[in-house]
Amino acid sequence: MALWNSRDGYGAVTKTAHWLIVVLFAFQYAAGLTMTRLGEGERAFGLSGDVLYNWHKTLGLVALAVAVVRLAARHVGELPPWAPTLSEAERRFVHRAERVLYAAMVVLPVSGFVYVMAGDYGVMVAGVWALPNPLPRSEVLAAAGRWVHIGAAIVLAAALAGHLGLVLWHTLVLGDRLLWRMLPRHR
Ligand code: HEM
Ligand code: HEM
Repeated sequence: MALWNSRDGYGAVTKTAHWLIVVLFAFQYAAGLTMTRLGEGERAFGLSGDVLYNWHKTLGLVALAVAVVRLAARHVGELPPWAPTLSEAERRFVHRAERVLYAAMVVLPVSGFVYVMAGDYGVMVAGVWALPNPLPRSEVLAAAGRWVHIGAAIVLAAALAGHLGLVLWHTLVLGDRLLWRMLPRHR
C-alpha cells in the first residue's frame, strides 16, 4: 500500500489516521458523557472522575495531533476519484460532511483546551505531567470554550451519523464495498 493518497486509493497515512481517530473519538464520547455525569466519589468502569478527565484531556490532545497529520496528508499526493457508485447528491453530501468532520477534529480539542486552561483546571498529561498554561484566567473565555465544545460534539455526532449511515448503506445494502476503500490492501 502506498504511503500517500493517489489515484489508486487512500494511502497508509490517511487510513491509519482515519481508524486511530475512530478509536480515539469513541473513547472521547464515552469518557466525556460518563465523567460529566458522575456524582461525588462515584466511579465508572472502576475509574474515578479525575482519571477519566485526565485521559479525556490527554487523548483529546493526541487526537488533535493525529488530525493535523491527517489534514496535512490530505494535501500530499492526489485524492482518489469518487467511488463510482455515489450519486451526484451523495457526492455533495459527502463533500459537506467531510468539511464538518475535519472542522470538528480541530474545534473539539481546541475548544476543550481553551475551556480547561482559561478556567484554570489545567491538563495533567496521562495523570503525571502538568501542561504549562498559556492562557490568562477568564470566566468568559472558559464558558465560551465549554459551550463551543458541547455544541461541536453535538454537530459532530450528527455528521457522523450521516457519514456512517452512508457507508453502511452502500456496503451492506447496495453491496458496493465502499468500506473497503478505507481498509488496508484495498486499491
Ligand atoms: C478531541 C476530541 C474530543 C471529543 C470528541 C470530546 C468530546 C466531549 C464530550 C462528548 C463531552 C461531554 C459533553 C457533555 O455531555 O457535557 C466532553 C466534555 C468535556 N471535554 Fe471533551 N472532547 C474532546 C477533546 C477534549 C480536550 C482536548 C479537552 C481538554 C484539554 C476536553 C475537555 C473536556 C471537558 C473539561 C469536558 C467537561 C465539560 C463540562 O463540564 O460539561 N475535551 N468532551
Ligand atoms: C466506524 C466508524 C467509521 C467508518 C465505518 C468510516 C468509514 C469511512 C470510509 C469507508 C471512508 C471512505 C469513503 C470514500 O471516500 O469512499 C471514510 C472517509 C472519511 N472518514 Fe470515516 N468512517 C468512520 C468514522 C469516522 C470518524 C469518527 C471520522 C472523523 C471524526 C471520519 C472522517 C472521515 C473523513 C474526513 C473521510 C474522508 C477521507 C479523508 O480525508 O480521510 N470517519 N470513512
